Amino acid sequence: MTESRDRWPSKTIFIFAAIGSAVGLGNIWRFPYLVGKYGGGAFLFPYLLLLFLFGIPLLILEFSLGQKMQQGAVGAMKRIRKSFSGIGLGAICCSFFVACYYAVVMAWCLLYCFYSVNIAWGDDPSTFFFENVLQSSSSPNEMWMIPTHVLAALVFVWVCVYFCIWKGVRSVSAVVTITMPLPVILLIILLIRGVTLPGAMDGLIYYVKPDFQALLNTEVWMAALTQIFFSLSVGFGVMIAYGSYEKKTSDIVKSAYIIAVSDAAIAILSGLVVFSTLGHMALQSGESLAKLAASGPSLAFIVFPKALSLIPGAAFFSVFFFLTLLLLGIDSLFSLVEAISTTLHDQWSFIRKEDLTLYVCTFSFIGGLIFTTTAGIYFLDISDHFITIYGIVTVSLLQSFVIGWGYPAGKLCEWINQVSVWKLSKWWSFAIRYFVPICLIVLLFTALYRDVTVPYGGYPKWAIIMMGWSTISLMIFLGLVYSFITTRKKSTNPFHVDDKSYD
Ligand code: PHE
Repeated sequence: MTESRDRWPSKTIFIFAAIGSAVGLGNIWRFPYLVGKYGGGAFLFPYLLLLFLFGIPLLILEFSLGQKMQQGAVGAMKRIRKSFSGIGLGAICCSFFVACYYAVVMAWCLLYCFYSVNIAWGDDPSTFFFENVLQSSSSPNEMWMIPTHVLAALVFVWVCVYFCIWKGVRSVSAVVTITMPLPVILLIILLIRGVTLPGAMDGLIYYVKPDFQALLNTEVWMAALTQIFFSLSVGFGVMIAYGSYEKKTSDIVKSAYIIAVSDAAIAILSGLVVFSTLGHMALQSGESLAKLAASGPSLAFIVFPKALSLIPGAAFFSVFFFLTLLLLGIDSLFSLVEAISTTLHDQWSFIRKEDLTLYVCTFSFIGGLIFTTTAGIYFLDISDHFITIYGIVTVSLLQSFVIGWGYPAGKLCEWINQVSVWKLSKWWSFAIRYFVPICLIVLLFTALYRDVTVPYGGYPKWAIIMMGWSTISLMIFLGLVYSFITTRKKSTNPFHVDDKSYD
């Protein structure tokens, strides 16, 4: 099977695809909103520091796992030890849950591409977003309905995603050649537009001016860390799957640095776009910049449409903006699907990859229906919170722990250095063995304590249990059962090293 495995046509395409996965909605609205919420420039410092301390080491770990084992998340873990396969399944579950809601946000972007043509939100984008687009209920307790336009947009998004990836690496390669560079060009155009607006300077100063007081807040550090994981697509099995389509002798370290730095650069660039436009909006509307910047998940769909409608050539730039979001999101979404279908195909190679992709798209579409209901935005918020904190962080913690101690890290580090142009220092093994697991355990328990004592976002208990705790419990349960079944299958020894040929 290793011989017939699909391959990226070139290193550039691999890097494009990985950047395409990393750069998405997370860069355009999540990053700037966190910057606004956590004190402007103060967020940038932990973000950049943690990128180098956690993000890049874990990205290298995922690429090397995929490349060395030539398998997706589950298969790669299984090749180290059968009992670890559940961790891979956990990563795949994270991909599935995120794909379900990510596609819904993409469906909103698609609708906004059309609404932009005549600036349909008028003077009140907030009412437009909640009442006309989402037809949102005032709480999750109210009856749920699915607005047909959101449903239709969701169907369209999934059809596009399916056709982007149905031929696996080949079609992904063709698509990312367009969907990766084009949004960057669009962002640069928006930036030029943004910085030439009156008031833009105030927004930019707010963006880069540090507020050192905020650094004492542990929440800032947690937010920075989860943003890095989400943005680098680490902990989802995506980068393992992408690495598995590389030749075993391909360079790893330099590619990982290029991908991580590009991702951060695009996040910083979109911050410049957002804050220059917000500066202009604050000037026009008389509202405070801090308040506008911290408007949260609504930033892209409320503050932005409003800001865009204030600038000359509003319709044109609005279509541009939502098209950028759509293009940035699409390669992130299909990387999530690829992570799942690669793993399924590794396990059941007798089923055609196209068919597996179709099943994954169909199930993710069905799973996402709950987020299209009139209470969908509340469920989306809860799911995002629980999956980014407990799902991704737990998977990353277990991954670094088992590679650090089970493989062990020093051996993998030697192998990485054999194939890579840039060499890893001893720090990498130390980070994977001690630093990353210890810090992540502290992070997890702090978050757990907070969530157990104060219900997240003030939502009703049943909604938090249904969308948060039960999703996470299901993930843990499936991981454990799968590990147990795989361990029992051929060997009764749980510490049996499965495939020596990969040593
Ligand atoms: N990294 C993407 C973003 O920033 C989201 C994503 C997460 C994509 C996980 C793939 C896997 O929007």
